[in-house]
Amino acid sequence: MISREDFQRGLRTELVGKRLFVFESIDSTNTCAKTLADAGTEEGIVVLADVQTAGRGRLDRTWNSEAGTNLLFSLLLRPELPIERTGLLTFFAAVSVCRALETFIGNLVECKWPNDLLLNGKKICGILLETSLRNAKLEYAVMGIGLNVNQKHFEGDLEMNATSLIRELGTEFDRRQIFRAILVEMDTLYKDVLRCSFGRILEEWNRRCRMFGRPVTVAMESSHVSGTAIGLEADGGLIIRTGSGLQTVRAGDVSLPL
Ligand code: BTN
Repeated sequence: MISREDFQRGLRTELVGKRLFVFESIDSTNTCAKTLADAGTEEGIVVLADVQTAGRGRLDRTWNSEAGTNLLFSLLLRPELPIERTGLLTFFAAVSVCRALETFIGNLVECKWPNDLLLNGKKICGILLETSLRNAKLEYAVMGIGLNVNQKHFEGDLEMNATSLIRELGTEFDRRQIFRAILVEMDTLYKDVLRCSFGRILEEWNRRCRMFGRPVTVAMESSHVSGTAIGLEADGGLIIRTGSGLQTVRAGDVSLPL
């Protein structure tokens, strides 16, 4: 049985996870964190669950995860950021997870625009950033993390495209240790976010990204852009050199030819 004490024991953070809500089962940790945020809950709270009955991914997709094997949690933050920089919170979360994972596995985790982390070319983690704006200001942000830790089998196409720590490294991992390590990295990097200083976060994200200089296609709702990925815009958009010049895309699914 999942317990708050187990996941919080020995956690040395100033803000992130100081209050932790733990559920055996919940619809979605992001939905719960947003409800708490709307009720005025302070920043830094984390909602963690063993299983989600309505886990959500980007672009209205569902996020399925086997009960009791992975990490499913959401962090509520209330930084004072210009609206055009709020998208960078995905990069803050991505780099925090990479840093933590790398201390366990010893290899670099790959960042794939906009919100995926890959291990050996397969998706191991997805990040769902949801924000609330009030009077043209960021009221709060909820960052949902779905990290595959000890799940051995995936359904359908995911069997080919998704992975987990146990699949790549052949050994079971202690979810509590990984969870605490991620919160510690988030706690550290959040100080940069509060100063609206994303230089180190973006530099680290870029270092872990293998898309730049390579041909990519970004599929959007009703169109697509093909060209060479050049780098990131200041707001986190992806700059692509196309046949007709530079174009920045701000949402979509990237595919890279093999
Ligand atoms: C994606 O890759 O599309 C993002 C997936 C994010 C999944 C996590 S699991 C915890 C949190 N709660 C949710 O409902 N979604 C996020």
